[in-house]
Amino acid sequence: MKILAIETSCDETSAAVVSKNSRQDHVKVLSNVISSSLVFHSKTGGIIPDVAAREQLKYIIPVIQQAIENSKSRIEDLDAIAVTQGPGLIGSLLIGVEAAKTLSYLWKKPIIPVNHLFGHIYANFVDPKNKIGFPALALLVSGGHTDLVLVKSHDNFKWLGGTRDDAAGEAYDKIGRLLNLPYPAGPAIENLAKKGDEKAFNFPRPMIGSKDFDFSFSGLKAAVWRETKKIGRLDDKTIADISTCVQKSIIEVLVRKTIKAAKETKAKSILLGGGVAANQKLRDEIRLQIKNSKLKISFFFPEKILCTDNAAMIGAYAAFHPEKKLWSEVYANPELYFQ
Ligand code: KG4
Ligand code: ZN
Repeated sequence: MKILAIETSCDETSAAVVSKNSRQDHVKVLSNVISSSLVFHSKTGGIIPDVAAREQLKYIIPVIQQAIENSKSRIEDLDAIAVTQGPGLIGSLLIGVEAAKTLSYLWKKPIIPVNHLFGHIYANFVDPKNKIGFPALALLVSGGHTDLVLVKSHDNFKWLGGTRDDAAGEAYDKIGRLLNLPYPAGPAIENLAKKGDEKAFNFPRPMIGSKDFDFSFSGLKAAVWRETKKIGRLDDKTIADISTCVQKSIIEVLVRKTIKAAKETKAKSILLGGGVAANQKLRDEIRLQIKNSKLKISFFFPEKILCTDNAAMIGAYAAFHPEKKLWSEVYANPELYFQ
């Protein structure tokens, strides 16, 4: 089956065409076009929902057109239109959902509504080399979410825990703001962290020893805030030192909880997903801890362009779960969670 997928949950406008036959254990990405309005938000230090929605509106049709053209598909070849239903910013979501509904009505194709969070997990199912064994433990780390999810099979997901306040990406971004770094600060902090001294600050590792699989990052942000107030003017060395120590705290917590969950659930695979999954240090640390713990677990992560928001991952989830709906049955739902 061939699917046109649309993703507009936040500041990326993306469309992709993917295909899969029933015997395949992965999805083939025929095109994946992403237009980001990030440049506007980096100036304002965060996403202004209204600006994001207006930019979505500008790009949605050209991006869809380009995705179909790049995939060398004809409209007649498409079996369905997948679209991100939520969670996300309502203004942004509505652009994608209403575009999908209009095309569904015009082209007489069903819609497959997709939960954005499941999409991030399914970014791991586009590489034919990935032989993902179940149960798989997914660590979803993005700007809005930090969740551990047990994927027992394609049809059986169990949410194990998540953040009680800030998400991991949000911690990177908010701390980046304290350090005067451009939004989103994840990639900048990752780079600066290579140069800093990891013993310069001892920031907290919130909830690292808790019995559950929950996370909390707001205390870390508060600790950095207190430190920056104490220091006053931040020079380049201090910014690099803080970046190194902040990243160390965030990654230590993420890795410790992920390995603990993998052991307890007897997971055969660990899957990474979401924007923070682009972080090389996080990938290296998980790999190292799997090795040190002598666990027989395969580790998978998407290529970087598929970690941050994109439509290919939405198409991937839809291809494994082709639950087709009429255009009149589909609505944007900004509050959608794991359900
Ligand atoms: O998945 P995503 O594109 O959007 C959401 O669904 O939230 O994730 C964006 C988040 C931002 O918070 C950004 O700072 C973070 O991912 N991020 C990173 C890296 N690249 C993006 N965090 C740490 N290291 C990176 N290399
Ligand atoms: Zn996302």
